[in-house]
Amino acid sequence: MVDCFIKDTCKIYDSEQDSCPYINSEVKPCMRQYKINYLLDQALLSDAQKTRKALLLDVNKIDLQAFTDLNIIKNNIVSFAKNGDNIYIYSRIPGNGKTSWAIKLIQSYINRIWAESKLTCRVLFINVPKFLLSLKASISNQNDYIDHINAYVNSADIVVWDDIGTKVATEFEHEHLLSLIDSRLLDNKSNIFTSNIVPNELSSFVGDRLASRIINTSKTIEFLGADKRGLKLK
Ligand SMILES: Nc1ncnc2c1ncn2[C@@H]1O[C@H](COP(=O)(O)OP(=O)(O)OP(=O)(O)O)[C@@H](O)[C@H]1O
Ligand SMILES: [Mg+2]
Repeated sequence: MVDCFIKDTCKIYDSEQDSCPYINSEVKPCMRQYKINYLLDQALLSDAQKTRKALLLDVNKIDLQAFTDLNIIKNNIVSFAKNGDNIYIYSRIPGNGKTSWAIKLIQSYINRIWAESKLTCRVLFINVPKFLLSLKASISNQNDYIDHINAYVNSADIVVWDDIGTKVATEFEHEHLLSLIDSRLLDNKSNIFTSNIVPNELSSFVGDRLASRIINTSKTIEFLGADKRGLKLK
């Protein structure tokens, strides 16, 4: 009898014959796809964010060093998470790939760990402005997005804090972000921050205590390339 936890929803499993072409193979392609997709869902990535995109350098290669550094992190993403490393990817210029790189890094992580991973949340992608808005809404109404983040923000191996410092946070927002990020840093858990704020200006947006924690624990990577939002790649 085929003993597989996805057979009820699997298109490859033959229920009449109770057979699966991959049952004896060590790496089952269907299982791989199922688990990766599950982990990406748990990370809160949308379908568009789940698709892999090629990130190209500008013609003048202005971000060559940043891309090289990020590729090294990508190739060593399992140790990055294990060591509790952090990076702060920033640029004053919008649309030049900060969020896309953060997503690429967590996709790489999931691709490396899926086989040994349980079906749980190993990585979280938190868009900070959306999180803060939902947080406000969750005060009066139950909110699934906030519940999911609260459930896993401490335990996830890597958390992406996307677009941090977009607007000046309120005292309540400062304190909430500070407590979540501070706990992760104290637990030696990895974080990837993306922002449009240069490091020495971050404190005006998120407060001195949070800015100091982020900047002093992260490798900073600046992007100087042009805005590529809406650009059609051949
Ligand atoms: N280097 C690149 N090569 C190809 N496409 C890119 C590159 N950088 C960004 N893009 C495309 O531009 C769009 C915006 O990218 P992304 O969201 O990563 O930018 P961002 O730097 O996070 O912007 P913002 O500062 O507004 O948050 C995406 O569709 C992405 O695919
Ligand atoms: Mg972004």
